[in-house]
Amino acid sequence: MTQYDTKEWSLPSAYHTEVAGTRFPDRPINPLILNRWSPRAYSHQSVPEEALFTVLEAARWAPSSSNQQPWRFYVARTAAEHEVFRSFIKPNNRLWTDGAPVLLLIASDSRKDNGEPNGSHAFDAGAAWGILSLQAQLLGLSTRAVGGYDRFIARKVLNTPDYIELHAVIVLGYRGDTAKIPESLWEREKPSIRKPAADFLLTIPIR
Ligand SMILES: Cc1cc2nc3c(=O)[nH]c(=O)nc-3n(C[C@H](O)[C@H](O)[C@H](O)COP(=O)(O)O)c2cc1C
Repeated sequence: MTQYDTKEWSLPSAYHTEVAGTRFPDRPINPLILNRWSPRAYSHQSVPEEALFTVLEAARWAPSSSNQQPWRFYVARTAAEHEVFRSFIKPNNRLWTDGAPVLLLIASDSRKDNGEPNGSHAFDAGAAWGILSLQAQLLGLSTRAVGGYDRFIARKVLNTPDYIELHAVIVLGYRGDTAKIPESLWEREKPSIRKPAADFLLTIPIR
């Protein structure tokens, strides 16, 4: 499905054609996982408020250490908010982020509710981003995380308190026309592949 409709969304039952020829899972994982990939071409079509808040709601239900829910989001939707984000996103990313309708900045609170340091805040924010991206995919929306932004400028213009750590800008919107992004990016506007699973399995030494 491509349009947001609360009554009709359901798990996709098949791999999209665009990923079927590129992504080959070693095991039959749910198509939702394989169908998600991060385009750079976004349409100017606005994201309905209901869809935006559904995506954020999914993030809300992410697991976190001691259920501290340390993720925080700056949400840029208006022209004025976009202008603030444009001041810190690096020029190479602005070539394609400038056209997107919604920009989020995922951050996390480094303190627990009791004021002690939360060693898990960044890990938990990562979990929230993963779930958010899958919920977006279910609603026919796409996402791409962007680490290429100036954190120093971002903290300054957003007036971010010391205890908040900034992670990634997240672009959220409907897929757009590849021809509208710079030609240098066309070749990369496709689902990426993955290293073999053997590469991420570590050995437990048995003594
Ligand atoms: C923390 C993080 C930072 C990223 N930074 C950038 C970035 O600055 N510019 C960009 O075009 N893509 C960026 N990406 C997107 C990744 O390159 C992309 O997710 C990865 O290549 C896997 O592709 P897929 O998401 O399409 O499966 C970032 C992704 C993450 C998770």
